Amino acid sequence: MTRQILRGNLCWSAAPDRLRFQERGCLLVQDGVVQGVEQELPDAWKQVPVRDFGQCLIIPGLVDLHIHAPQYEFRGTGMDLELLEWLNQRTFPVEARYRDEAYAEKAYQVFTQDLKNSATTRACIFATIHLPATRILMEQLEATGMKGMVGKVNMDRNSPETLREKGPEQSAGDTVKWLEACAGRYKHVQPILTPRFIPSCSDALMRRLKEIQIQYRLPVQSHLSENPGELEWVKDLCPEAEFYGDAYDRFGLLGGEGCPAIMAHCVYSGKEEQKRLLERGVWIAHCPQSNMNLASGIAPVREFLDLGLRVGLGSDVAGGSSLSIFRAMTDAIQVSRLYWRLADRDRKPLTLDEVFYMATAAGGSFFGKVGRFEPGYQLDAVVLDDRRLNRLGNKTLRERLEQVCYLSDEREIVAKYVAGNPVIEPALP
Ligand code: GUN
Ligand code: FE
Repeated sequence: MTRQILRGNLCWSAAPDRLRFQERGCLLVQDGVVQGVEQELPDAWKQVPVRDFGQCLIIPGLVDLHIHAPQYEFRGTGMDLELLEWLNQRTFPVEARYRDEAYAEKAYQVFTQDLKNSATTRACIFATIHLPATRILMEQLEATGMKGMVGKVNMDRNSPETLREKGPEQSAGDTVKWLEACAGRYKHVQPILTPRFIPSCSDALMRRLKEIQIQYRLPVQSHLSENPGELEWVKDLCPEAEFYGDAYDRFGLLGGEGCPAIMAHCVYSGKEEQKRLLERGVWIAHCPQSNMNLASGIAPVREFLDLGLRVGLGSDVAGGSSLSIFRAMTDAIQVSRLYWRLADRDRKPLTLDEVFYMATAAGGSFFGKVGRFEPGYQLDAVVLDDRRLNRLGNKTLRERLEQVCYLSDEREIVAKYVAGNPVIEPALP
């Protein structure tokens, strides 16, 4: 049994719309699991060394529910295109390079190091169709100590020959080979089934993926209702589907049955689709920066929350240009405010409390008991020294947290813990 105590200004979500603050609180941790938050140490803990972070803020680790590792290298470019042109002109040619293992090794090193140095503690990651490169990414992520789900992407149609699997059998066969190669190999990294999106996957492939999902009990991640051009295309490809989400659901790949799903975007999810997502217990990855960059639109997050849907945040690099989930939080607030001003005065904008919950507790729940400082939750935490921002030292804890969300970068991060283990080591005084 190992015990540890972290002390500092604790900030976490007590409820979906309410932050909680504990000044100079002690976070009691046993075997990587939070036991409680106390102002004074209980007798039984008095012998345990305290890692005291002084006036630093300590928050739950941020969760990125949707990111593309191979796209990291071209983030911030090609922002004059819409989704389908952007995929063809920018994304597919870059992803095709990951056939080369030496290239993947180099490029994924840049990605994993930057992710390690960010405030993100857990992520759900798309790789490419390539089996060796996907394994390289998993090995590198494992070495950081972060937790993540990584998907070898499936795509057997509507992409260039350099980035297309040769039919459903090859795609499914490679997926099984990949799963067998990962089995029992990682402590921190897990595989996740990753059909890219409906236009990339034939019906026969979707059927095979469902069989694989049942056999290996896998979660699934994909894209849904992101951009108008894509929606039209899906209608042509699947005229029998009632709506886009139904095209996944027909194959049993919209979650449920102990195999949860993350669907990224849902910008154009109407009432029927929302209802189905609720029935299937889907996690929505809201990716506001990507939705701005690719001119996709603004997702109706307020409607999702009112309906009781689970909504986490995604960077969607490289649709999104920043890896930062702080940035995703503030973008989510900002686009919701524009939506309220320009389109619908009845749709209340999102608050800091709400987006903080999305980035920590809601995203974290995809991984189990993750994202809160409550008993039984795994200790994922980020320690932030905000002296660069709070120069006059005259702000409340809430103001300091708000400013950190809007303005901080890696410079503020002094330590990061995932499931109790340090991923960024605190520099001892
Ligand atoms: N839809 C299918 N593939 C992608 C992708 O790589 N990024 C985004 N944003 N949407 C997609
Ligand atoms: Fe994406």
